[in-house]
Amino acid sequence: MDCQAFVDEQIASIKESVGDGMAINALSGGVDSSVVTVLAHRALGEKLKTVFVDSALMREGEPQRVVQLFADMGIPVDLVDARAEFLGALKGLTDPEEKRNAVTNTFYSKVFGDLVRQTGAKHLLHGTILTDIEETVDGIKRQHNILSQLGIDTEKEFGYQVLEPLKTIRKDGVREVARLVGLPAELAERIPFPGPALATRIVGKVTEERLATVRAATTIVEEELASSGAFQYMAVLLNDRATGIRNGRREFGQIIVVRCLDSVDARTATAVELPWEKLHRICQRITAIDDVNRCLIDITPKPPATIEYI
Ligand code: XMP
Repeated sequence: MDCQAFVDEQIASIKESVGDGMAINALSGGVDSSVVTVLAHRALGEKLKTVFVDSALMREGEPQRVVQLFADMGIPVDLVDARAEFLGALKGLTDPEEKRNAVTNTFYSKVFGDLVRQTGAKHLLHGTILTDIEETVDGIKRQHNILSQLGIDTEKEFGYQVLEPLKTIRKDGVREVARLVGLPAELAERIPFPGPALATRIVGKVTEERLATVRAATTIVEEELASSGAFQYMAVLLNDRATGIRNGRREFGQIIVVRCLDSVDARTATAVELPWEKLHRICQRITAIDDVNRCLIDITPKPPATIEYI
């Protein structure tokens, strides 16, 4: 691919489609939405409104960090606090699909839907990539929120048109564009992180307290495994407890699972063989988290497992 030609074409095409109107996009900090934000900003300048929705499900400091990285590039991003909406929608849910739907619906129908209406944007930019389209059409995933490929006319149903500047390229192409347009490595090389965020890393109920536990474990796993070169690594909070000893007393504490995987496109994955010393260190740090007394390593490949736990 001629990367520069791709960038020029997409900028010109966004400019032409949006014309004098307003466009909106949601930035998650993942490489796809980050690239879309840069391309759309270059095409539209002040006619673009970019929002980062704080769903309460993000990693430690993530909303502020992503907004700051874009501010450093001269791209303004509005941080929208929707923590109460998401926590409310997830309250009491334990079924994986119900949890996913709660997050998706809160995002599209409520939070983002309201923002689109408020701004009067007629165009919405989305970081759909070619793999997302293929997996949606094949029926492998419903999670990519791809509307047109499912036969939904967004203009008729919601009053806006969806623009998908990355829909002809895959993740490796997106990363190439990311480097070319000057995104910092922290964004261009970011490991995949699912849309429903830490809600996919909690088995059972999603509460503020349980989020704090899995968030602390996620920070540790990401720090320890950043240099592993793995495709994806994560911490998961189980919906079970185990007996342990803390400060000489017996406690019935929480269990964290650590997963570190190699993959090319997330369709299949295998566990990375990590040095014993590294595993010990991760275990030590994770069991120092309040109320956590077990750290398990999950070596199951995909298939039969999926990458995430819900
Ligand atoms: P699974 O768990 O299906 O995950 O093996 C495959 C890849 O997709 C990511 N993933 C998601 N991404 N929304 C997303 O945007 C989701 O609901 C979602 N579920 C899983 C996962 O992190 C892995 O990279």
